[in-house]
Amino acid sequence: MFEDFRKFDEAFPYLVKGYPLNSFKGLEESRKNFWKHLASDELNKREMVSDLIAEYARICDAEKDRTLPKKLFSTAWAAQSNTMVSAFWTIYFVTKHGDAKAAAEVEIQRLLKETSQTLNGKTPINFNRNDMDKMTVLDSIINESLRLHVSASMLRQALQDYDLKVLSVGKTYRLRKGDRVMSLFELNHKDPEIYSNPEVFKYDRFLNEDGSLKTDFYKNGKVVRFALQPFGSGLSKCPGRYWAVTELKQIVILLLLYFDFELINPNEEIKMNKNRVAFGSLPPTNDPKIRFRRRVMT
Ligand code: HEM
Repeated sequence: MFEDFRKFDEAFPYLVKGYPLNSFKGLEESRKNFWKHLASDELNKREMVSDLIAEYARICDAEKDRTLPKKLFSTAWAAQSNTMVSAFWTIYFVTKHGDAKAAAEVEIQRLLKETSQTLNGKTPINFNRNDMDKMTVLDSIINESLRLHVSASMLRQALQDYDLKVLSVGKTYRLRKGDRVMSLFELNHKDPEIYSNPEVFKYDRFLNEDGSLKTDFYKNGKVVRFALQPFGSGLSKCPGRYWAVTELKQIVILLLLYFDFELINPNEEIKMNKNRVAFGSLPPTNDPKIRFRRRVMT
């Protein structure tokens, strides 16, 4: 199923642009496979089905809605596609930037101490939501990673003729019914007046001097309302954003607690695939090699 998912994911930007499904070899087949596995009679045979999927299936069954596989597939895509790529970049930046790795380790060790836990390889480490919320260094690392690799946009269509005031440029644009407007959040993410040296990864960019999370960024002396919007905005803002950030934090915590890891070629340039500009997390064009070793616990 993972291979089918990958095939679909790779074709996704082209499908959105209107390329027909059959212009990709095997894609029709992959979609059928997915739908087969996600149909309710298949799901009913499984022992471990998440509450979310069970609830979806229950509602669709009650309403005799036969689109359950389509709904589950689009949810799976929304939940996995961006998160996998964001996990990659977050691990990559932590591995590449020694200062980020060191600061994150200090924070995790502090939390271990505060929660009276020791790492011995036998008792699992348990951080609750409250503990995770205190991890502002990890928040800053994740925000900085999202700022650099997510190219999110918001697409809206005018339902009637409308005068759109754009405060940041002091202009009003006349929209006709049916016109579409896209707001590309990446423009703010890479604006040097909002973020100095915007192409550079700075792990503490989102930290105030007292260690709290920095949320206000300025342009021309005014706070920028949408300085960081990797999850979009408005009604269709990503409903999985807290889940995603928690997953990213957990990945970094587990890696730092249980593994030693480093880049084999620290100077190798890893680029972002611009094919997905405006669609979310930009995947890497090449895979860096990472050496890792499980830590010996005593
Ligand atoms: C780092 C990971 C993620 C990123 C960068 C991301 C980003 C986005 C963006 C930019 C949108 C479009 C927002 C808009 O149109 O204004 C979106 C929508 C959505 N996301 Fe995420 N997302 C992530 C993880 C997740 C996860 C983990 C889930 C589910 C558990 C999820 C579920 C959804 C859904 C269902 C929508 C559609 C919302 C709608 O149209 O009303 N996302 N996401």
